[in-house]
Amino acid sequence: MKPALTTISLFPLILVWVWSWAIASEGVDGIRVSLKSEDLVIVQAGEKIYQTHCASCHGVYLEGQPDWRTRDASGLLPAPPHDATGHTWHHADDLLFEITKYGAAVIIGDKNYKTNMPVYKDILSDQDIIAVLSFIKNSWPEEQRVWQEEVTATANGEAPEPTYKSPILDKLFK
Ligand code: HEC
Repeated sequence: MKPALTTISLFPLILVWVWSWAIASEGVDGIRVSLKSEDLVIVQAGEKIYQTHCASCHGVYLEGQPDWRTRDASGLLPAPPHDATGHTWHHADDLLFEITKYGAAVIIGDKNYKTNMPVYKDILSDQDIIAVLSFIKNSWPEEQRVWQEEVTATANGEAPEPTYKSPILDKLFK
């Protein structure tokens, strides 16, 4: 009797939970994008786009700007690295696509959020955004790639939560 009652009373919560996964996997535009970091033709095209559109801030070698964790005098953050020392690889494929296409302000739902990061929806096509992020993803060492694949699977509702243990993240969150 008791377990059945619990299940019934939890039903709305379960619905919200399932629904939030659906949202999480498709983000703000309802379309789930997957990066193509194994497709070397796309990766190579992405490298050119990166050097033209992103390297001036995120660095020719994806190293980011100095002191990237510290806000400047106007309260803005410098550009973070896209290599293994940054946190780009902590985010799922679709989220990276949406940050680049729509901007962080839209993704976090705060239209007053100020950032130096441009919004690319009127600058690059969806294919170009996928290519440039595929190039970035392709550059990560195995540990970061495995982690990010798990984060992506979780966001897509294909895995309960990342099981991969990252010594780097363990250090970060301790
Ligand atoms: C004018 C400087 C500038 C350019 C050019 C730029 N970015 Fe950024 N980017 C930033 C800044 C600054 C941030 C940090 C966001 C913040 O302020 O909260 C950022 C953050 C990001 C993030 C989120 C990273 C994370 O770990 O959360 C992604 C993804 C990203 N940029 C991708 C790109 C891509 C792809 C390009 C090129 C198409 C690009 N950026 C071009 C300045 C720039």
